[in-house]
Amino acid sequence: MSTVRVSLGERSYDIDIREGNLSRVGDLVAPLARAGRVAVVTDTHVAALYGDRVTAALDAAGFTSRLFPVPAGEHSKSAAQLAELWDAFVAFDMDRSSTVVALGGGVVGDLAGFAAATYMRGVRYVQVPTTMLACVDSSVGGKTAIDLAAGKNLVGAFHQPSAVVIDPGALRSLPGRELSAGLAEVVKHGMIMDAAFFERLERDVERLRALEGDVTTGVIHRNCELKAGVVAEDEREAGRRAILNYGHSVGHAVEMLAGGALVHGEAVAVGMAVEARVAETLGRIGPEVTQRQNALLGRAGLVTTVGEVATDAVIETMRHDKKARHGKLNLALPSRIGACEVVADVGVEVIARSLEDCRER
Ligand SMILES: NC(=O)c1ccc[n+]([C@@H]2O[C@H](COP(=O)([O-])OP(=O)(O)OC[C@H]3O[C@@H](n4cnc5c(N)ncnc54)[C@H](O)[C@@H]3O)[C@@H](O)[C@H]2O)c1
Ligand SMILES: [Zn+2]
Repeated sequence: MSTVRVSLGERSYDIDIREGNLSRVGDLVAPLARAGRVAVVTDTHVAALYGDRVTAALDAAGFTSRLFPVPAGEHSKSAAQLAELWDAFVAFDMDRSSTVVALGGGVVGDLAGFAAATYMRGVRYVQVPTTMLACVDSSVGGKTAIDLAAGKNLVGAFHQPSAVVIDPGALRSLPGRELSAGLAEVVKHGMIMDAAFFERLERDVERLRALEGDVTTGVIHRNCELKAGVVAEDEREAGRRAILNYGHSVGHAVEMLAGGALVHGEAVAVGMAVEARVAETLGRIGPEVTQRQNALLGRAGLVTTVGEVATDAVIETMRHDKKARHGKLNLALPSRIGACEVVADVGVEVIARSLEDCRER
């Protein structure tokens, strides 16, 4: 077993990583909550695979649980879906002492987390991530959100989970494309925070893609430690937490413009390639850093060239991103492998040129 503590004073919690944990969810939630109602919010794919296992574990531990499956996919992170969940929670007689379990990927985690943050002004929730992306990134840190037509994650709340329960065995049913997408965030954490971890990935990425037990658990553990460290230092992104946005300023724009053709992690891989190129152009890193990053992303199964999207459209979308202040673009940029800084006021012409440099020729 391996545990990572997220240290946030009275909001501290543990991330428990162990093969078979889906069958232990009840025992792991029991110390946090008196017996009562547990809403297991999940999506249709995950409900079919693991829904019964999780509700059975909760009921065996004395809870009264029910599955609340939403359609799989990003479009479930909507105001309409959120309102349906609130009503379903009322119909299930949930009160302030009830618990929400988010069983699934980042979509379910963000939606269920926001439902928990808002229902009766906030109820307890537990993250049970089942995608690589959710295990290494979205389930840790307490950011919850839904999307608006105008953009992703525009409405949300900081609401820390009471625990994160990870069963690496659940990743075996994940489509290869989703596994690779999650590895974009893994490579990102190495790039921005930990050179030794980046080198370990260079050694082990094939074994990681094959989901070999020890490698997978070790990588998830280190990722959670890295993310937990940043979150503990800067819970609400007043400063250092912004380095986690590496690859995301360009990535979010590319993801939106691709209109469903790319999943989040795939867009982040493209964003990291472009933003590394920006760092090169600004003289912050040499080209060998970008090459090593892109080679590792490629071995993780990710594409690092910009596809069909038009450069003007990317720049325009970036200007409207909620993180752009007064039209100025602040980017988290690497200064070497394992280190990253937020650079203010990066010129749009540099970003545009870097996008062009990252097109397949
Ligand atoms: N809150 C945060 O800090 C944070 C951080 C990063 C990303 N996010 C958000 O996370 C979302 C992306 O999350 P995601 O990549 O996990 O996508 P996702 O939740 O859509 O899951 C991807 C697909 O895999 C399926 N799936 C999940 N687990 C499975 C399993 N074990 N076996 C088989 N299929 C499985 C899902 O049904 C879905 O079809 C985005 O909305 C993004 O904004 C949030
Ligand atoms: Zn991300």
